[in-house]
Amino acid sequence: MCGIVGYVGPRGSAAVLLGGLGRLEYRGYDSAGIAVISDTLDLRKRAGKLVALRDELESNPIVDGHTGIGHTRWATHGAPNDVNAHPHLADGGKLALIHNGIIENFAELKAELLAEGVEFLSETDSEVAAHLVAREYRECGNLTEALRRVVSRLHGAFTLLVVHEDAPNVVVGARRNSPLVIGLGEGENFLGSDVAAFIEYTRNALAIGQDQLVTITPTSVDVIDFDGNPVTPEPFEVTWDASAAEKGGWSSFMAKEISEEPQAVADTLRGRLVDGRVELSDLNPALLSGIDRVVIIGCGTAAYAGMVGKYAIEQWARIPVDVELSHEFRYRDPVVNDRTLVVSVSQSGETMDTLMAVKYAGEVGCRTLSICNTQGATIPRESDGVIYTHAGPEVAVASTKAFLAQVTALYLLGLAIAQENGNISDTVLADMVRDLAATPDQLKTVIEHSERIETMAKWMADTRAVLLLGRHVGYPVALEGALKLKELAYIHAEGFAAGELKHGPIALIEPGQIVFVIVPSPRDPNSLNAKVVSNIQEIRARGARVIAIAEQGDAGVLPYADEVIPIPLANPLIEPMLAVVPLHIFAMELASAKGLDVDQPRNLAKSVTVE
Ligand code: AGP
Repeated sequence: MCGIVGYVGPRGSAAVLLGGLGRLEYRGYDSAGIAVISDTLDLRKRAGKLVALRDELESNPIVDGHTGIGHTRWATHGAPNDVNAHPHLADGGKLALIHNGIIENFAELKAELLAEGVEFLSETDSEVAAHLVAREYRECGNLTEALRRVVSRLHGAFTLLVVHEDAPNVVVGARRNSPLVIGLGEGENFLGSDVAAFIEYTRNALAIGQDQLVTITPTSVDVIDFDGNPVTPEPFEVTWDASAAEKGGWSSFMAKEISEEPQAVADTLRGRLVDGRVELSDLNPALLSGIDRVVIIGCGTAAYAGMVGKYAIEQWARIPVDVELSHEFRYRDPVVNDRTLVVSVSQSGETMDTLMAVKYAGEVGCRTLSICNTQGATIPRESDGVIYTHAGPEVAVASTKAFLAQVTALYLLGLAIAQENGNISDTVLADMVRDLAATPDQLKTVIEHSERIETMAKWMADTRAVLLLGRHVGYPVALEGALKLKELAYIHAEGFAAGELKHGPIALIEPGQIVFVIVPSPRDPNSLNAKVVSNIQEIRARGARVIAIAEQGDAGVLPYADEVIPIPLANPLIEPMLAVVPLHIFAMELASAKGLDVDQPRNLAKSVTVE
């Protein structure tokens, strides 16, 4: 989704803006532009990737200055072309505005402006905002006040930045249901849709809350709410540096981020396993006290992490746990109350479907808890509490290390709830804490022994369909593995609960059909292993090519699988975290073998900030 950068300070702003937009490329976009103020306002914008904008700036240099805004656009209203690219101009080209989100009532506002004779160049909702701010600025002469008057009329989701050549050294921003953070420099200040926009210059940041405006100059930062009341923004320090957001020599961000999966789990656990117990010091214990139900909400990979968490939380805390897709939960009038804990899972913390569901849950009286990987993001700020995962920046659109960190955070939450309600024995708790602490090393072992997977991906490069089977906590892993194959290799891939096979999916089995099977541990107390091994026999008998992901030394699988990818012996509840890694690697290798863009797959964005 759209990337946003604002700058005021002594540097040439064009370079700062382009650098920031470059670090936000992973958000997915289809056009880009910058506006810079020296004595006058100058603008360049182009459809396509940043390289097209850089080429334009090369052939038609901008008059640089020390104030500016930059934008990468993910088209919502209007085709991705030069005219619809941001920034948008108004007030005779003296005002420039950029926007992330959707202004739901733009049509009526546009009609009002058209009736006043305003001429529009683009099809966008954003240009409407630009002309509205220009109209107010001409009346009141103050850019902050002008934007404040406008935002109170807008419905929907928006982050807006605006500059005016009559107000040099000032950038004004506003946000509702869309991301915006402040970067604090020495004699310079920044705005960004996330901290990657300015991480090269500062790690000192301020979070801007819902319905707030910010005015930055080189030496000041002022935040007010939409009613004009001063607000003290929440400071935070970004815990990763600019290099962490670069590939660091890896062939892709995804390869780098898979390699970081052990560290993501270790960092998410850090400081939270104390003397055989879980300590979530940043969480108000009252939030967990007296809950009688958990509803986990999320989208895509985040939802599958939630499904893994469900099994563990129910087993330890002995309270019912449901997992729902955010966009379904919000509109089905769920039966919930103030003893329901709604846990949102979101890497970006900006997924609009999940944000809207969280706001809805709060409005109907639920307690809300965010599991999020992005500090200062909107969803944590809209929640009663947050458990941050510490996977570091996840740049590749396909989520990998964040999934592991999300499962880790859900396990920490499940154990914390069980500690709170007393439904877990000290022995089970201590064993689980021990096994969680051992997980990073087991993940390293899986990654270190994954060379076979690359070879497999190469001989499967022409595969058109893959099926995946899993049982219990292996079932969400099958779904996650299928999603990765869809989004990276663009092939049909479907995950099933292994027990469902004979209820229909087995009809899909024909000679040569590739099936991944996540095999439960033979030590599993429910002896699901034997059931899954018989599933393997059933599909092998019909010609399937079976790739089993199974515990090291599981002799029961060997005679029936074409390939076995071993994972270390682990607690059965830890095994999904180990079994998913080969599927992440396989999807990445298959995409590479097909010559596809591993980091920015077609049609996808890293954060879906529109409904
Ligand atoms: C996962 O690989 C996808 N990129 C997508 O399903 C993603 O998990 C989903 O959009 C949720 O994103 P979030 O975690 O930032 O909320």
